[in-house]
Amino acid sequence: MCGIVGYVGDKNSVPILMGGLKKLEYRGYDSAGLAVFNNGKIEVIREVGNLAHLEKAVAKKEPYGNLGIGHTRWATHGRPTKENAHPHTDCKNGISIVHNGIIENFLELKKNLMGKGHIFRSETDTEVIAHLIEKHYDGDLFKAVQYAVDELEGSFALAAISRDFPDLIVVARKDSPLVIGLGDNEYFVASDIPAVLSHTKNIFILENHEMAKITPRGVWVTNFEGKEVKKDILKVKWSEEAAEKSGYEDFMLKEIYEQPKAIKETMRDKFDRNGQMLFEGMQLGEEDVCKLKKVVIIACGTSYHAGLVAKQAIEHWAKIPVEVDISSEFRYCDPILDENTLAIAITQSGETADTLAGVREAKSKGARVIGITNVLGSTITREADGVVYTHAGPEIGVAATKTLVSQMVALYIFALYLARARNTLSDKKISAITEEIKNLPDQVEKILSGNGVIKKAAKKYANCTNFLFLGRGIGLPVALEGALKLKEISYIHAEGYAAGEMKHGPIALIDDGVPAVVVATKSKVHEKILGNIQEVKARGADIIAVSSFGDTEIEKVVDYVFYIPETTEILSAILAVVPLQLFAYYMAKTRGCNVDQPKNLAKSVTVE
Ligand code: M6R
Repeated sequence: MCGIVGYVGDKNSVPILMGGLKKLEYRGYDSAGLAVFNNGKIEVIREVGNLAHLEKAVAKKEPYGNLGIGHTRWATHGRPTKENAHPHTDCKNGISIVHNGIIENFLELKKNLMGKGHIFRSETDTEVIAHLIEKHYDGDLFKAVQYAVDELEGSFALAAISRDFPDLIVVARKDSPLVIGLGDNEYFVASDIPAVLSHTKNIFILENHEMAKITPRGVWVTNFEGKEVKKDILKVKWSEEAAEKSGYEDFMLKEIYEQPKAIKETMRDKFDRNGQMLFEGMQLGEEDVCKLKKVVIIACGTSYHAGLVAKQAIEHWAKIPVEVDISSEFRYCDPILDENTLAIAITQSGETADTLAGVREAKSKGARVIGITNVLGSTITREADGVVYTHAGPEIGVAATKTLVSQMVALYIFALYLARARNTLSDKKISAITEEIKNLPDQVEKILSGNGVIKKAAKKYANCTNFLFLGRGIGLPVALEGALKLKEISYIHAEGYAAGEMKHGPIALIDDGVPAVVVATKSKVHEKILGNIQEVKARGADIIAVSSFGDTEIEKVVDYVFYIPETTEILSAILAVVPLQLFAYYMAKTRGCNVDQPKNLAKSVTVE
């Protein structure tokens, strides 16, 4: 996820662009840059690191111009270096562009353009857009962008300027956000509303497959086919602070609602055009997969729960034994590993000290290590033998939400990749599961839109001091995660437990009115879990069940039901966890807790 800005008007664009970038820094901050039109030339300044570095360079060079574009980067293709920082330019430095998104067919386009003599200067997917525009440019920038976007596959919000036009920005959007702020003879472009809000509250939201020509005289919007689109002005009522969270009260809630997108983005680079699983950065070919005798997963906290889900997917589909270890325990347990062991380290930040120590331990014993992370350039990407990225975008809330579902989806697809290589699932079965995976974003959307009952339950139980979260099979990691979320943001004691293990001790904790959250989705252990519900109910517990749509019988037995759509049993974990995130969120809010920055916690735990 990156942030883009643009300005055209009668003021100096530089402070406006810098102010906009500041508001977008949450979208990524490994490098930043701007391009400003000045005296028939485009001056480009780019720096590695957060905005402070660009600020210094700008203060030194003092660029000036009434037209400009800017970018803050969160690297996806290519390391965070000056060459890879945006804006990118064409061969003649006549066209500059900034881009947010991923161009999926960039390798093919790049090869083609290089064949036609274009010289590339970065490792990014974005640079192909500048060269494509150059290829189509014959004096009409708008048309050139229109032809260029026609060749692009993937997602993009982009802004382009040319040294031939002192007062023109051309923008285009597909699957990445873009807004245009409307001022008096001046216009602002940004990835989201907060970046323009100090200048105007009148906004055009560009929709998918729309593009616009922006000059100080006005904005002209068309679809990609060139048909004019009349836009309604959105009058923003949010304060600047609310706008940073897109109108959500907290980053955590915003991030919960971003989950359908996070899943989609994570899936995007893991299937090729023919729908086959693709893990390019992983450095683990099919031959290596066939030699594997065991998989060891190491992770902490929420990432550990993703590991528990992955264990079931890998064992069930690829038939490889999997061990899941808490990173902080792993290296002190003298783990048995060798060159036929694949170690998977899951860490959204890529910086968790315990997990990194586990990586070193696994490597020292000859295992091949793959890192699953959300942050390009993080330490794990340098230490692991191969990397699989999730593309959830930066997660600001301390509680992991969208990074968890992204890890799960990456691991599901990885498990299928192993199964295909080892021939443990038929092509038909793999295709059927793949289809179900592709339905997940819509299904999560459905859960998010039906949160009324979750709010009601949270209101009722907000003052309870003890909670039980129970699950079996694929429901167990979900129960553990539900308990962790509740503990960390609402400070309520919550015990996550295997439902069948209750009778060996924890059942003694149950008293009248103690709430038990039970993951009771459709599964091979459904009857068993219904039995467990009866056991705790008979001892006075109130029951909140997470169940599959259509299971109306359960309503007769429990106090509240959070329904989720039906899917393949192993995939149901990703859906069942969503109502529990919302439940923890509403519990914490009802109790007046700061959900984004819970006490005693940090987003990355870089100490042992
Ligand atoms: O960055 P990581 O995924 O390695 O972080 C691991 C845990 O610290 C993290 O999941 C933590 O448990 C979260 N705060 C849970 O919401």
